[in-house]
Amino acid sequence: MIRVAVIIGSTRPGRNGEAVARWVHDLAVRRGDAEFEIVDLKEVGLPHLDEAMPPAMGVYEHPHTRAWAETIASFDAYVFVTPEYNHSISGALKNAIDFLYAEWNDKAAAFVSYGSAGGVRAVEHLRLIMGELGVADVRAQVSLSLAADFENFSVLRPAAGREAAVTAMLDQLVAWAGAMKALRAAGDYAAASVGDS
Ligand SMILES: Cc1cc2nc3c(=O)[nH]c(=O)nc-3n(C[C@H](O)[C@H](O)[C@H](O)COP(=O)(O)O)c2cc1C
Repeated sequence: MIRVAVIIGSTRPGRNGEAVARWVHDLAVRRGDAEFEIVDLKEVGLPHLDEAMPPAMGVYEHPHTRAWAETIASFDAYVFVTPEYNHSISGALKNAIDFLYAEWNDKAAAFVSYGSAGGVRAVEHLRLIMGELGVADVRAQVSLSLAADFENFSVLRPAAGREAAVTAMLDQLVAWAGAMKALRAAGDYAAASVGDS
């Protein structure tokens, strides 16, 4: 069975990200085509990147890095639930991504963003980061507006059509997750070993 992590990309007190991730997760688990788990960066509690070796070397010194690597390695695909902070993703999410390398390679990803402008600028940055990590990011994405999809900018009330957008995104994600899983199983190709960064 395809395993998908729904990653909560914000950690601040009073964050909207947790409600958004739980809404996506609740919709996702109704499907029968994959397993979905929430991964909360607040609970993971990583420090700022504190490994001496670049993650692409795969030499993880600290127990928190090894635990994070084990978590991410156990999934075939990721739904990044991302806020938009200053037209990009949160520092916490970038840090958590930067900690690892091979565990992300040749997996699939999709995005659910939120912000004044739907968080779309954060997703554009995430797509660039996914490219460097060899992650196949699907086209369909879910963008929630703080004005239209939240009451008082803080209570999630998704507008009509948002559930359909989640379904379209997950349809693409599960399909690509399966394709990337087959690619990894073939064993004769790894994004990490092809080309320069
Ligand atoms: C540091 C910071 C920067 C922000 N910058 C933007 C921004 O550039 N564009 C935007 O649409 N919203 C911006 N916002 C508003 C956030 O999108 C909104 O507060 C959202 O709920 C943040 O996600 P969170 O509640 O999960 O932390 C910013 C919020 C914070 C805390």
